Amino acid sequence: MSAAVVDLSNKVVLVTGGARGLGGAVARAVVDGGDRVVVTDVLEEEGAATAGELGGAARFVRDDVTAESDWQAALDFTGAEFGRIDGLVNNAGISAGQLLEHETVEHFRQVVEINLVGVFIGMKTVISAMRAGGGGSVVNVSSAAGLTGLALTAGYGASKWGVRGLSKIGAVELAEARIRVNSVHPGMTYTPMTAPVGIRTGEGNYPGAPMGRVGVPEEIAAAVAFLLSDAAAYMTGAELAVDGGDDGRAAHGAVTAGRPTGPAGRMPHRFQAHPTPPGALPGSTGTSPGVRHAAEPGVPGA
Ligand SMILES: NC(=O)c1ccc[n+]([C@@H]2O[C@H](COP(=O)([O-])OP(=O)(O)OC[C@H]3O[C@@H](n4cnc5c(N)ncnc54)[C@H](O)[C@@H]3O)[C@@H](O)[C@H]2O)c1
Repeated sequence: MSAAVVDLSNKVVLVTGGARGLGGAVARAVVDGGDRVVVTDVLEEEGAATAGELGGAARFVRDDVTAESDWQAALDFTGAEFGRIDGLVNNAGISAGQLLEHETVEHFRQVVEINLVGVFIGMKTVISAMRAGGGGSVVNVSSAAGLTGLALTAGYGASKWGVRGLSKIGAVELAEARIRVNSVHPGMTYTPMTAPVGIRTGEGNYPGAPMGRVGVPEEIAAAVAFLLSDAAAYMTGAELAVDGGDDGRAAHGAVTAGRPTGPAGRMPHRFQAHPTPPGALPGSTGTSPGVRHAAEPGVPGA
């Protein structure tokens, strides 16, 4: 499945965490829209492969979003390769959950460092280049967990609420520079982040959710591409839920799946049908983005 094609011609977009998952789909949507993309990630082999598959309109450069020096190098690289930057998609993130009382300070800080501080450094880094280029669009990938209170997502949920707030601050401060800043809030989507906990694609795979299924990365990428494009020229500070209706349901108070149903660390009922992978951190809820497998190979910060 490819994302709906949005006209992005003559723009240059940097996508963090673009090696795979949602970021990989966003990179593809950007190129399909006629644009050039710089894929960044800490997964160097996967990132280079993803960019390679996209052809001459794509490049890869390593960027650990927590490192200011990596950000500056990625911006310099983008300028050297494509001459400008019009779009930034702050997509890189990790997810892992635990009951609040069992969450460690160290892990909480690690999640916030990547998911929130990384977004802050990214926005801060590109502002002057975008301003000099006449404006731009920043799309920050938050989560359904950034729209409501979900059990078992202490660090993750807090970071995603932070991303939502930071996006609004950016929208207000940067409108004068013609830089738009919006947040996207995916619901449960099938990616390497969620696959380890038994998430599957297909109709009926998510009973209880309004649309009865989880999303696929291309469906999130289509919304991101729209916000990057001139079709969204009058949108800034918006929060776009792309979640099969989960947020609407939460707003009506019908969400109960996020409540812990048993002893510390036990999975919410929706996931009890799926065996918890050995070493996996419990933490997903009916609308959360899933859990992180501590032992998953190639997963930075998990
Ligand atoms: N999959 C879901 O259900 C879901 C739901 C809501 C929000 N999200 C958000 O979407 C974004 C993408 O998630 P995904 O599902 O594609 O997960 P994913 O694990 O497939 O992709 C995340 C990418 O971020 C990269 N990354 C991690 N730490 C990094 C760092 N310090 N610097 C640079 N890159 C780093 C990873 O290497 C990986 O390639 C995340 O921000 C996630 O929180 C996902």
